[in-house]
Amino acid sequence: MKKILRILRQKDAESQSYWESYLYETDQEAATVATALAAITDRDLLEPGPEKSGAYRPLAWDHSCLQRKCGACAMVINHKPCLACDTRLADCPEETVVIEPLKKFPLVEDLIVDRTSMMKRLKDLEVWFDEEAGPGGENMAFEASKCLQCGLCLEVCPNFYTGGKFGGMAAMAPLSRLIARLPEGQRKKTGPKYIQGVYEGCGKSLACQKICPASINIEKLMVKSNGAAIWRRWTSVDKY
Ligand code: SF4
Ligand code: FES
Repeated sequence: MKKILRILRQKDAESQSYWESYLYETDQEAATVATALAAITDRDLLEPGPEKSGAYRPLAWDHSCLQRKCGACAMVINHKPCLACDTRLADCPEETVVIEPLKKFPLVEDLIVDRTSMMKRLKDLEVWFDEEAGPGGENMAFEASKCLQCGLCLEVCPNFYTGGKFGGMAAMAPLSRLIARLPEGQRKKTGPKYIQGVYEGCGKSLACQKICPASINIEKLMVKSNGAAIWRRWTSVDKY
């Protein structure tokens, strides 16, 4: 199998972006975009970019588990946000595979973006129990725990932008882990945060549902979380 990886590169946030193409050949049917990215760093460029004449700069991209578990390799592949380690080259229909960084987050370098705003949001929402919580909501917590904090849902969300009040499903999922079991005192504090950070911002387009690599049933989780946080349908939460 022969693929040309056409990658949008940028040295840092202030630099001009430019395209570079790399040739990758493999006989592994299961090779992914992440496999190719890991291999091409030392290879010759097909179309030398403006930096080829200067000092060589290795391709920068984030990855860790390579098993769809950490969310680090989130990027835009063939115009669709996805995980590089979850995208098989054999499933890319054209010989050329177009690869770009996520666009909703500040660029760091090449395919690396700064997603610390997602973590800061969880801190602002205080996604933890202040005191011992009661039982219930285990099924919701299990579904929510599948969230990788990859940010792909935010990339396709028409309502999310960095710096806005709406945290998107990357905030809703972690909140869902505790929302059904909040102690009374904490509910008074977390409820308004949920309403402002999740409920009021969501336009229910559910673009996130289709893109989530963890296949979280976001619609169901959101319905149950809204019920628990806003209307307090405690009895139905346990039947999630
Ligand atoms: S809800 Fe899905 S797409 Fe969004 S951050 Fe979590 S795992 Fe990623
Ligand atoms: S490297 Fe961990 S999800 Fe792709």
